[in-house]
Amino acid sequence: KSLSVLRVGEKDYPTDDYTNVTPKIISYLNRNLHLKKDNPLSVYDNLPPVVTTKQNFDDLLIPEDHPSRTKSDCYYVNRSVLLRAHMTAHQTELLRSGLDNFLMIGDVYRRDEIDSTHFPVFHQVDAVRSQLREQLFENHPDLNIFEPIYDPNNPNAFTNSISDPAKQSCHTLEASKMMETQLKNHLIGLVKVLFGESIQYRWVEAYFPFTHPSWELEIYYENNWMEVLGCGIVRNEIMVNAGSNNSIAYAFGLGLERLAMALYKIPDIRLMWSTDSGFLSQFQNKDVDAKITYKPVSVYPQCKNDLSFWLPPTLTVETFMNNDFYDLVRDIGGDVIEQVTLKDKFVHPKTKKHSLCYSIVYRHLERTLTQAEVNKIHKEIEIAATNAFNVVIR
Ligand code: PHE
Repeated sequence: KSLSVLRVGEKDYPTDDYTNVTPKIISYLNRNLHLKKDNPLSVYDNLPPVVTTKQNFDDLLIPEDHPSRTKSDCYYVNRSVLLRAHMTAHQTELLRSGLDNFLMIGDVYRRDEIDSTHFPVFHQVDAVRSQLREQLFENHPDLNIFEPIYDPNNPNAFTNSISDPAKQSCHTLEASKMMETQLKNHLIGLVKVLFGESIQYRWVEAYFPFTHPSWELEIYYENNWMEVLGCGIVRNEIMVNAGSNNSIAYAFGLGLERLAMALYKIPDIRLMWSTDSGFLSQFQNKDVDAKITYKPVSVYPQCKNDLSFWLPPTLTVETFMNNDFYDLVRDIGGDVIEQVTLKDKFVHPKTKKHSLCYSIVYRHLERTLTQAEVNKIHKEIEIAATNAFNVVIR
């Protein structure tokens, strides 16, 4: 078996007796057909953040004089185009395209003060879940989504009212309550998965022009009730306008920054925009259930040093245990080690020797490290690695 390297994506990989990818196949890797506009496989990824006032407001029954439309709240490109103020702006177009259950994730833009919990750009996950009579009342053929006075095939003959706090006038109480229960259970399930069974929460009555009834969910976090999401039963007018005459839907929209800040104890929303590897590495490659608590990043500068070595003939770039190396670095360097990343794997085309390159970021929490100090620790790591793994420093 010949050992050589193969470039796949952005990286080189050693080949072995399992290698059978062809250059032709590799050429398909970055085509991303599913992200190409008008391709029949296209999914609603990358919904563009520039929307019309129709999408952001009119389609969602937000009245002409509603405060959320004002120039002081939104970023307008011009009179009829703005940066979306919520992901709900895409709800109608996606319903109209034939989707009935979907999530919309993206960046949203609102004019607001800048403090530790507000930033003019943040991220939302919005959801719609709609159900037909057969799905909602699978085991109850006698129950209906709509009141007898409302004909879903002739929706314009009826004026849907929201004066009853419990439900829209077109819906039966059973359908509305059933959806409410599913919606609330679903979202409580979500916050319990995120924050644990004992998380304190409360439902607050709310008003959104596009849902009725509507609620906000608050969780108790650091001695305050914190709003994490808005939700409700989608106004039937929106369903009808989108061509979904026969179903009832619930919708919710939750702010990702708030949840992440509470979950990881991140004290300032601006940190979300940090490109500092001392911040980012704390969330790198973590499994979803790992409990991460943010540790403040030092204000002192980083110092980066690379370490490369040849592996002994008994080891390959695939079998060498990265975690063993990480532990060794930590053992020797202690708290001044901020991050260790595997930077490169290499197989020499002639000698077939395998080599690895790691990048080590050093940073002291309380003072600036001198290059001499860093070099000394780096040297100790090289010696320890040589002894522990029988490697040869390059
Ligand atoms: N769009 C609302 C907001 O940004 C949240 C929401 C979404 C409420 C869907 C109800 C239904 O606050």
